[in-house]
Amino acid sequence: MTNTQTYRSPLFYVGDKYKLLKEIKPLFPKTINRFIEPFTGGGSVFLNVDANEFLLNDIDNYVFQIHQFLISQSKNTDVFFNQIKKTILEYGFSRSYIENIVPKELRKEFVKTYFAKFNKEAFQKLKSDFNKSENKDILKLYLLLIYGFNRMLRFNSKGEYNLPVGNVDFNTNVYNALKNYFSLISKKNINFYNLDFVEFLNKIELRTNDFIYFDPPYLITFSEYNKLWNEKKEKELIEYLDNLEQSKIKFAVSNVTHYKGKINKIFLDWASKYQIQKVKSNYISYHDNSNKSFEEVLVTNYKPEILKHTQTKLTWDIKTETTN
Ligand SMILES: C[S@@+](CC[C@H](N)C(=O)[O-])C[C@H]1O[C@@H](n2cnc3c(N)ncnc32)[C@H](O)[C@@H]1O
Repeated sequence: MTNTQTYRSPLFYVGDKYKLLKEIKPLFPKTINRFIEPFTGGGSVFLNVDANEFLLNDIDNYVFQIHQFLISQSKNTDVFFNQIKKTILEYGFSRSYIENIVPKELRKEFVKTYFAKFNKEAFQKLKSDFNKSENKDILKLYLLLIYGFNRMLRFNSKGEYNLPVGNVDFNTNVYNALKNYFSLISKKNINFYNLDFVEFLNKIELRTNDFIYFDPPYLITFSEYNKLWNEKKEKELIEYLDNLEQSKIKFAVSNVTHYKGKINKIFLDWASKYQIQKVKSNYISYHDNSNKSFEEVLVTNYKPEILKHTQTKLTWDIKTETTN
């Protein structure tokens, strides 16, 4: 492993920062004592940061449980991988990280969807076993995530996992992401919480050499976890950030300011007091050719080291009119 390499979290989280890390990380402080991440999600950010201590949090209980489970398994990864293999074999899932068992005929007949066809039955059985069980087996939940639609987690109002099978496999990417996760976290001092971000931050006695990275749900885009977010939460967040500035605690916050004609005015108005860096997002909209359809930023309350020699504060050409 080299320092310049970026590692993807084995949660393959929707909207993760994996592809943006090369842009975001150089904007973080050079040395970090405690790295605090109130919206950890899949964890692609903390995995790729060096710090003496990590205080992590996510409100999603299953996301939290998967991390806790993987962290606990990192001490004996052979047992973990044996258990994974045993469960995959028991249910009969495809498993290209060890062998290719999807028949040629199926591959030919369903050129683009053969994994979904092959894994459908096994997935149904695993989902039903997981939903029926009283004590939830997090390894099974992890496999549902890996073989499930878009590698997402979604539960209905009864608390049952309710996504269909995905056209995906437990391949070498998954295997390597797990191995890297285990190796990276074994060198980190981590405490993981499962709280609302304010409650989490209130639990910590913040110090001036802490650094807090916020990647909240985005008010104007769509994803499963955005359901937990609204204007009230956004205002609560920016108010909290202003308090951090007053206490001289460094923060960086990611957000999407423009999306398909929508503008997050609450955030943009607030952000003009701070350093705003545009981030070239990996998000490509195939439905909307307007080049302003998606803008992502990183806002910091300090001037990033790599920008120290630029004369002026970076300004943002704020578009306040919607485009459609
Ligand atoms: C944009 S995602 C973070 C993605 C992460 N940076 C990554 O690379 O995977 C936002 C996360 O915030 C969590 N979340 C939503 N509302 C929250 C709240 N009030 N407090 C803490 N976490 C929250 C969601 O569960 C979700 O995992």
